[in-house]
Amino acid sequence: MFYSDELLDEIRLQNDIVSVVSEYLPLKQKGGSYFGLCPFHSESTPSFSVNADKQFYYCFGCGAGGDVFTFIMQMENCSFLEAIETLAKRGGVKLPEPKNAEFFLEKERLNNKLIEIHRQAGLFYYSALQDNKGEIARKYLEKRQISPKIQKKFGLGFSDNSRNSLYLYLKDKGFSNDEMVLSGLIMRDKNGNGFYDRFYNRIMFPIFDLNGKPIAFGGRIISSGEPKYLNSPETPIFSKSRNLFGLNLAKKERPSEIIIVEGYMDMISLYQAGFHNVAASLGTAFNKEHANSIKKVSSNVILLFDSDEAGERAVLRAIPVLISSGINVRICQVTNAKDPDEFIKTYGVKEFAKLIYNSLDHISFQINCIKKNYNLNNPDHKIKFTSEAANLLSSVENTIERDVFIKNVSSLTGVSEDAIKTEINKTISRQEKNFMTEAEKKRLKIRNDNISSAIKKSKGLIEAQRDILYICASYPDIFKEIKKFLSPFEFSEDIYKKMATIIYELNEKDEKILPTKLIQNFDTIEDQRLATEVFAVNIKYNNLEDMEKAINSEVVLIKQSYINSVSSSSSDINEINNLISEISKLKNLDIKIKK
Ligand code: UTP
Ligand code: MN
Repeated sequence: MFYSDELLDEIRLQNDIVSVVSEYLPLKQKGGSYFGLCPFHSESTPSFSVNADKQFYYCFGCGAGGDVFTFIMQMENCSFLEAIETLAKRGGVKLPEPKNAEFFLEKERLNNKLIEIHRQAGLFYYSALQDNKGEIARKYLEKRQISPKIQKKFGLGFSDNSRNSLYLYLKDKGFSNDEMVLSGLIMRDKNGNGFYDRFYNRIMFPIFDLNGKPIAFGGRIISSGEPKYLNSPETPIFSKSRNLFGLNLAKKERPSEIIIVEGYMDMISLYQAGFHNVAASLGTAFNKEHANSIKKVSSNVILLFDSDEAGERAVLRAIPVLISSGINVRICQVTNAKDPDEFIKTYGVKEFAKLIYNSLDHISFQINCIKKNYNLNNPDHKIKFTSEAANLLSSVENTIERDVFIKNVSSLTGVSEDAIKTEINKTISRQEKNFMTEAEKKRLKIRNDNISSAIKKSKGLIEAQRDILYICASYPDIFKEIKKFLSPFEFSEDIYKKMATIIYELNEKDEKILPTKLIQNFDTIEDQRLATEVFAVNIKYNNLEDMEKAINSEVVLIKQSYINSVSSSSSDINEINNLISEISKLKNLDIKIKK
């Protein structure tokens, strides 16, 4: 690791977890803890707790938990090192220049390469749109009424029907095959030797990050065909569930509110008409990460999805996600047109402005949606509708707001305001009671889990494995010695087994072992975090002798624990005898690292 424990403690001290978490979600104090709606899973009653005393958070619902660093990693979807940087900055703690930051630099180098590939590809597609072959694409854009000026502003382009023209272009620019494949724009064929372009015969929409760097593309087919839109795959610099199309342009406006639409064309159309506070989610279900990205631009969102049923469902799902991120949501429905693009082209700017002006608060929108399911002339339906509405209103915290909605429901149904209020209060106290019993159950379970896992694995075992992996990755000569005694399967955790396997393979090929290379092999944030953590351990040895002692005792610990776990699950007496003799051999294990 590049930073000392003392420094990390200092950063923790300067970043009180309650205040850090409060920047992302509202917390309510209950007894010694703070509670809120968990940002890592959907829920309607708060099971996310923050302990101010011990400075950790834990969700009784989904089990997410950790300290202020873990919170930032999960919330910002970033690495441990990035979390350290974010919090150091927030807390005004100065970080020393990282010494052994090869891992960090390597990652940065790679990301810059990938961005450069996108920049070049953007130029390539852009000029293809202007030349002879691009005529069909220019005609299409003209038909969609996108002016040349806006085409240029968005850097729209065209991928022609050659299957490898981008590949040849990028190759000529000096990018390696591996880099091109990693960018997602070039694909390797089945036998691994040939390369071809992901996008062909499409209008190309470059996607930028919040700093205006090109990180991906969307491509719309020109004639009919499937899929209508093709997006870049997930890459080290792009994630569909984090990046929104046009958000970089909206950010420049520092908008008081931002309109979120479904499609590329909707976004561009509205922008062209003068609405510059628009961004489009890229065809995936709206999630927490979208909300976090949007929040960096504005805390007020107007959801403007397509007028079909799918659009309405998407809105209903997006509301709680946005609300629990502390974003105010209003809803706007397109009427008499398929989508915002069609609306503004059919009815014009004034009508569109009216539509936005008349956007509804999300509670009224949801009440309207519930109402559609019932015939309020039917007493039975009236009861069901009122109960459902009361249930919804129990989530409105502000009593003035709640009162306004209660009046509305009362006048819709003729049910007295008092009766509705009583129903709401009943729901609230039921929810609180459920929450407390759930919390208690979970708390007991965690205690038991902690006890049993403490018996199975000492914390020392995990640390020993991290140290050994770190040493193996960092000191090829020492690794050659360790390898004689320890095999990848003897590591206790799957993730460490996999890391060890990769280190062994790379070493076999005499390749330098860089953290990025290792981490790339893991897909989930959690696995990447665990893998990164290996390089984040701070190992200090006074001399080689100490190091040798540490390595020996750690290898013994790992082997011993492996043998224990095999023997406890074995019922074969011969096998057990063998294992016992293996254990006695451990006493004589002697890894020499001194020259
Ligand atoms: P729509 O099907 O509503 O398309 O998809 P659209 O935006 O109205 O497109 P036009 O007007 O016909 O050109 C909305 C969004 O869903 C994603 C895209 O991000 C699109 O903008 N999508 C759609 C895909 O990713 N793949 C598809 O095949 C279709
Ligand atoms: Mn459309």
